[in-house]
Amino acid sequence: IRIFIPADAAAIAAGAERVAAAISKEAAQRNQDISVVRNGSRGLLWLEPMIEVQTEQGRVAYGPVKAGDVPSLFDADFLHGGHHALAHGLTEEIPFLKKQERLTFARVGITDPLSLTDYMAHGGFAGLKKALTMAPADIVQEVTDSGLRGRGGAAFPTGIKWKTVLGTPAQQKYVVCNADEGDSGTFSDRMLMEGDPLCLIEGMTIAGLATDATQGYIYVRSEYPHAIAALNRAIGVATEANWLGQDIQGSGKSFSLEVRKGAGAYICGEETSLLDSLEGKRGLVRAKPPLPAIKGLFGKPTVINNVISLASVPYILAEGGQAYADYGMGRSKGTLPFQLAGNIRQGGLVEKAFGLTLRELLFDYGGGSASGRPIKAVQVGGPLGAYLPESQWDVPMDYEAYMKVSAMIGHGGIVAFDDTAKMNDLARYAMEFCAVESCGKCTPCRIGSTRGTEVIDRITANENREENVELLRDLCDTMLGGSLCALGGMTPYPVLSALQHFPADFGIEARTET
Ligand code: NAI
Ligand code: SF4
Repeated sequence: IRIFIPADAAAIAAGAERVAAAISKEAAQRNQDISVVRNGSRGLLWLEPMIEVQTEQGRVAYGPVKAGDVPSLFDADFLHGGHHALAHGLTEEIPFLKKQERLTFARVGITDPLSLTDYMAHGGFAGLKKALTMAPADIVQEVTDSGLRGRGGAAFPTGIKWKTVLGTPAQQKYVVCNADEGDSGTFSDRMLMEGDPLCLIEGMTIAGLATDATQGYIYVRSEYPHAIAALNRAIGVATEANWLGQDIQGSGKSFSLEVRKGAGAYICGEETSLLDSLEGKRGLVRAKPPLPAIKGLFGKPTVINNVISLASVPYILAEGGQAYADYGMGRSKGTLPFQLAGNIRQGGLVEKAFGLTLRELLFDYGGGSASGRPIKAVQVGGPLGAYLPESQWDVPMDYEAYMKVSAMIGHGGIVAFDDTAKMNDLARYAMEFCAVESCGKCTPCRIGSTRGTEVIDRITANENREENVELLRDLCDTMLGGSLCALGGMTPYPVLSALQHFPADFGIEARTET
């Protein structure tokens, strides 16, 4: 009997290793023949560690399981469908999962992440196989037709980026994967790398074929040791089977891949600082132009994309760009793995086509707040994203619709706060975060963020409140317009949204314009 126990970092943090040890021990003592698969997480994080038993009808889920629950699971004969209070029935029927549209995460939590046989049995390498027979420009066209936009947060069309790299002649080109997932409340990159690392490897290899790049690097933040280990092992598996390396599957085309570990600076998630860091320098933001697509790593044309952008490519090549573009709305095509976090009852990963609303995510999937108190504000798009009040929870999740309300979807991180949150404190936190993480290159960000925290402190202490609120708005305006990169340039979003939608928390009257 096959039992699935996630080896995902979130499951491990919740005790999965202890559960795995207890299950093996108990099975041995009871002479039960089991085979344990260490899979990725299904993304129902409130149920982790969530174990699954393979039955004829499908997999049955149990969770959250503690090591102490294991004897009672065996007593209830859970291996043969016996009832236990922690059972949730067939995993695929759990509403949180059943309503999702998993294209990029199709295999995560289902396969053994390091089994090539499992990967290929679930559609793996179908995209790369096709790409190996195509001309680079045709691969780029397929990705352009899919409408895929950068999932790191900026939503720049991936096909156009690749076209620029393809069209720039050079002896050497690179593909760099930005896996420095630094946004608060986000974990989709990590889950993908731990749960289906071969998918990222396949996507990067396709990017290499599309742009004539022969070397790739995955820049992973140091806080993700499990992802780093999974990627290194998966690179070994793919290389051994000749899906990576020289003369891939006898095609005459080559692509090599290495993992590089970051050192913990938020700014190294900004693409040009990331490239500096990869080159062995201190991560400092470079002025653009030149774009990395023209002059990137070691001065060579470089495709630099987020994990989810690259991991979406195998599906696009296998099924065709149009199949992907059939999902979504407007210019936001395909799906996004939204990540529910913060004060939410059912936190986890929800991959859905663009167009659903925040209200659906918060209540239909998230089940409301964990505290049981009303949700007051939701920060969408990481620490640089706006705080959305309830009046904006029905705006469809679409890049353009969000921009219209001065918010952003970004990397899909959603952090909920209940009515005990003080928005002046959260606005201060945004400025403080910027001050701590600023690379120091430009004045509005380096100095403005520190002055910003001081001004918010004065507003909170009711020192010349009206005057200081005006000063804060003015400072935000300078940061918005005068910063070199998104850190300084977008920190005003959380600050201004808190001011606009929650003026009472700052002790001021509401006003209509920002
Ligand atoms: P950007 O808008 O400057 O660039 C987007 C991408 O398009 C870049 O890769 C850029 O090189 C490329 N590009 C632009 N014009 C091009 C052209 N003509 N040809 C080829 N490539 C072109 O945005 P940026 O500064 O790269 O990213 C900002 C975003 O990062 C924010 O919106 C935020 O959502 C996100 N972010 C994500 C984090 C995470 O952990 N995922 C952390 C912090 C910020
Ligand atoms: Fe550095 Fe801040 Fe300027 Fe970005 S905005 S380049 S982080 S100082």
